[in-house]
This record gives sequence, C-alpha cells and structure tokens, in this order.
Amino acid sequence: MPTIESVLHETRVFPPATAFASQSNIPSMQAYQALCAEAEQDFRKFWAERANAHILWHRPFTQILNDQEAPFYQWFTDGVLNVSYNCLDRHLATQADKVAIIFESDDGQVTRSTYRDLHRRVCQFANALKAQNIRKGDRVVIYMPMRIEAVIAMQACARLGVIHSVVFGGFSAKSLHERIVDAGAVAVITADEQVRGGKHHPLKATVDEAIGISDTATVRRTIVFQRTGASVPFDPARDVWWDEITRDISADCEPEWVAAEHPLFTLYTSGSTGKPKGVQHSSAGYLLGTMISMQWIFDYHPNDIFWCTADVGWITGHSYVAYGPLALGATQVIYEGIPTHPHPGRFWEIIQKHRVTTFYTAPTAIRSLIKSGADLPDQYDLSSLRLLGSVGEPINPEAWIWFYQKIGRSRCPIVDTWWQTETGCHMIAPAPGAVALKPGSCTFPLPGIFAAVVDEAGHDVEQGKGGFLVIKKPFPSQIRTLWGDPERFKRTYFPEDIAGGQYYLAGDSAYRDADGYFWIMGRIDDVLNVSGHRLGTMEIESALVAHPLVAEAAVVGKPHPVKGEAVTAFVVLKGPRPQGEAAAQISDTLREWVTKEIGPIAKPDEIRFGENLPKTRSGKIMRRLLRALAKGEEITQDISTLENPAILEQLKQPSA
Ligand code: WTA
Repeated sequence: MPTIESVLHETRVFPPATAFASQSNIPSMQAYQALCAEAEQDFRKFWAERANAHILWHRPFTQILNDQEAPFYQWFTDGVLNVSYNCLDRHLATQADKVAIIFESDDGQVTRSTYRDLHRRVCQFANALKAQNIRKGDRVVIYMPMRIEAVIAMQACARLGVIHSVVFGGFSAKSLHERIVDAGAVAVITADEQVRGGKHHPLKATVDEAIGISDTATVRRTIVFQRTGASVPFDPARDVWWDEITRDISADCEPEWVAAEHPLFTLYTSGSTGKPKGVQHSSAGYLLGTMISMQWIFDYHPNDIFWCTADVGWITGHSYVAYGPLALGATQVIYEGIPTHPHPGRFWEIIQKHRVTTFYTAPTAIRSLIKSGADLPDQYDLSSLRLLGSVGEPINPEAWIWFYQKIGRSRCPIVDTWWQTETGCHMIAPAPGAVALKPGSCTFPLPGIFAAVVDEAGHDVEQGKGGFLVIKKPFPSQIRTLWGDPERFKRTYFPEDIAGGQYYLAGDSAYRDADGYFWIMGRIDDVLNVSGHRLGTMEIESALVAHPLVAEAAVVGKPHPVKGEAVTAFVVLKGPRPQGEAAAQISDTLREWVTKEIGPIAKPDEIRFGENLPKTRSGKIMRRLLRALAKGEEITQDISTLENPAILEQLKQPSA
C-alpha cells in the first residue's frame, strides 16, 4: 500500500463545554477511558452486561460469543428476542402516548404518531403480511418513499422474523432486479410513486419493470402503498393495495420470537467487483449496537427531538431511523423531501418548527447547503439544537466550521461518526461530553471497539503514517456474512494477505495523530464515495460496457466540491474515437444509460474517449494514472511500464 501523505493540517481543538459534559451519558474523558478499560479487560463480559441491560430478552442468553468458526462470529447465541418488540411494545406500559415520529411530507404537512399508533400500525401490517403467507425467514424487498410507511414495513418484517432488504428508491429497475433475485424475495413492498421536491417519481412501474426482467418467479406479491393515487399498472394475480390488506385487520400480533443470530435484514452495498454485496445483519447484536451508540454518541436524552436525514434505503436510515431511536423510545423527525425544496432553508425551517435537538446529516448535504445559502441559517431559530452529527465521508474542516458556527451557533458539539453498512453502528466517533473535537477527525473508537491502523503484516503503524483501518476484536453489531456468498465475505473482510485474516478489514485507510486521534483518508479499494454513497467503480464500468457502443471502460473518482467525489469515465468505443459534437452526443447517451442501469447517483459527470486505455504491459489498467488525468494533474509518475504512452494525450482533455 502506498503511503499517502495527509494534506490536512488542522490544529483547532474544541473541548466539550462543562455544561454539556455534566449532563451527558459519558460525562468526561475519565468516564470514557474507564469504559474502554473495562472492555479491554474482558470484552465478552463488557458486551454481555450491555446486552442484558439494553435488550429485553424473551429467553436470556448463556453463551456470549461463539468464535469457533471465525470470522463467522455469533453473539448471545442461545438468547431469544424480537427486535420489533424491543422497539415498540417495550414502550407501551411507560410512554405509549409519547410521539415516536413527527412526519413532515414533501409539501409540509405534518403528522404525529405516538408509540401506541405506531405499534398498532406495525401489528396490523404484520398481520396483513401473514395473511399473504409471508413467514419467518422469507425475504421481502422494500422499495419505498421516505415515509412512516417504510418504517412500518421494516418493523412489521422484524416482528415476523421476515428478513427485509430495503432498496433505495433512487435505484433503477435493473439494480432493483439484481437485488430481488439475489435475495430470492417472495414479495416487494412499494408505493405507486414517491414525491421529492414537488416532483413525482414512479416506484410501482419500476418494480414491474424489474420483475419483468427475468428470474423473479419467487416474487408472489407486490404490496402497493398509495402515496399519490396515480394510476399505476395493477396485476390482480400478484398485486395488492396496502390499504386494502390492512383494513379491518386485527391489531394484535404476537411477535415471532427469534434466535439472537436470526438475520434481521440484508442491505446491498457496493464492493470493488461488479456484483453488489448483500450485507447480512443479526437481530440481537445489531440492535445492541444501534442502542448503545444512540446513548454514547448521540448522547440520547428522553426529551430529545432526534432527526437523522438519511433515507431508509441506506444503513444510516436503518440504524438511526428505523431501529435505534425507536428502541430507545425517542421522538424523531422523518422528512420525505429534499433539503432545498421549496426553498434552500427547508432543513433549518424543519429544525425550527419541530424544535430538533439532535441533527444528523452528511457532509455532502452540508456542502450543498453552504452553496445554496451560507448565511441562510441566520434567519432561523436554531436554539433547540444541542448536538450535531455527520456521516458518510470525511467532513472537510471548512464545512465542519460552518456547521459548527452557523448551525450549532458554536454551542453544539459535532459528532463525526465513522462506520459502515457492515459495522451496523458507529465505530469511531466522539462521545461528545468526553472527547475534545478536532475538525475532520472522527476521534476515538467507541468503548469495546478495538480499532487500529496496521500494515500488511498486521502491526500497528507509526503515529502519523497511513495504513489499513482494522477492527481487531469481534463486536456485536458486525456483519455476519454476505447473503449467499460466505467465501466472498471472508475474502473481502478477513483477507489472508492482511494480518493473516485475523482482523476485520474496513477497506479504508487512516492514520492516527500525536494524540491518538483517528483520521480517515479514503478507500483502499475501487470504491467511490459520491454524495456519501458508496459506488463500486466496477459496477459503473460493467454498466458502461453493457452498452452496445462501448468496448472498454474505466471509472475513477475526481474530487468534487459538493459531492465529495464525482464519477469520471474513460471509454473506448467499438467504433472510431468520437470528437466534438459526436463525442458530446455519445457522452449524453452513455450518461443516460448509466442512470437507467444503476440510478442517477452513478451517472458520470464526465466521459473521456480514447482509442485505448493506459495499460501496463501485462494488460492492467493504470488507474492511478487515470485518477491524475481526471484531476488535470501533470503526470509525474513513472510511465515506463506503460504499453501505449501516446494514449495519455488523448485522455488529457475532456472529449466534449
Ligand atoms: C466512508 C455509511 C470518513 C468510509 C455509514 C466508509 C466515512 C464508508 C465516514 C461506508 C466518516 C463513512 N469519515 N469516512 N465519518 N463515514 N465514511 O457503508 O469510506 O454507506 O468505509 O456506510 O463511508 O459507507 P456506508
């Protein structure tokens, strides 16, 4: 691995304010260190105690960790529970009338659902699923707008031990199809349309297209929620309306008690090869991770109004919308729309209106909001806020400072949370009452998370030097396997060539500074981070090559002021290399093609055409060179191994 020198020289430090610290769940650095020391001494006991304290068990566990078949770890193996029971029923006796969800629709209508309401709707929907013959262990794909109903669908699955797989509503029919097939889904839960920024986007029609592609015989039902009432194709043999199947149905639904390791869900994420990976999470370990991180990192207090802006189609929307906040009995905001509609102050308006205390969003959203009105927040009353959070990519210090000053009014700590789809919950993030913040650093691991930066041999690297970010000991919320592909799971996360396969390999590079703070430097594999979403370069390349005009394609990331990274594609056509107007036209065609194949998030910002791609003599595409070309940098690297140096000239300039 090349040593990457960090370009960040951030020296500002923001210690926790005394008033904040004294109220917080981990109120000092000593308290944080004591927790770490406790975990250090006996991490099994540490997690067992927390699992007993936080989870309501139907039958308690006696076995804490089974590592017989490492890296296929099992936690709390003989325990029995239900996740939906832990999120809903547990609150009925004590706070049934507390608002669970403040839902604001795209057009600004607000609905408040109490824990009692939510429990009733989840039970009814679960009974409706049962009536459709959907059972424990079945897989159900959820392709829904960002609404309460999406959470109801997830919770209802959890209640029945049905394994959900949520697919982000922005994915194309092709991507949806791939996920339905891989999961072997028996049903798809969707809506007629989704509404974002005043625009309607089809969902049901996309589901039909996906099912129409091939190999989807497993899908017996599509359940359609009517969001807009638009007329959509309806196949009476397969389709049912959400409203009809939940009308006049009992609200009593005994949860299906499942083993701790029963899969709660799978969620597909990009890897460095073409096929998305079905990340499989457990029931108990995952639940524990979301709960403990709500306490430690979001410093949850019962009167908080929590708002995580992530869509339920991503892991953040699973852990910090659909599960974590509910398990703690929090009141949370769910917003259907986009940050800039009908005006760029919409987020600030929502915070003001609902008196949000804890606001969790992504650097890409922060950067785009800075762009659309850096002083706009001044017009809003944001005094309810007490904590801010960031996730998805490193937050650049400028954006951090803006977030801190303009949104947090220099009062609110920012928790920069490093984690992944695979880790289920925060891994490295500040306990805000304990840790002094440094803009751009996710600071220290959570107690019980043994994160380190190592070299190939598995030795901790020197302070200040880049290396592989690993987690040395198993932890309850970690990925269990890749759906249907245990070999790929092992190869990807516990590869033999890094530390002999004994550590969880995150796929990121990082370094630690003189104070031990962690700084994430980026991915070590061919994965891009576009607007906080992981995209495999291979996926986009495969999509491009699937177009009849294209012979070969290579995709790299290029720094982008708002999106973090933008997609640049280098393409070789089967015909002659196009120039000028022809290049512009084909470029548009291919961009649209990728949108259709994967979704708008994967659309290349720029396409350059060459007669060939720069390759080594052994035929490997030289991606480092392409990255430099995309950035417009001078080529200073050694190109003596390059098969065809003349190609570089062609690829230097944008084609159109
Ligand atoms: C990146 C999102 C720096 C990282 C929860 C990771 C971050 C990938 C941060 C996971 C952060 C996420 N600082 N980088 N605070 N948070 N990343 O699976 O590269 O969508 O491996 O999970 O995003 O993305 P995923």
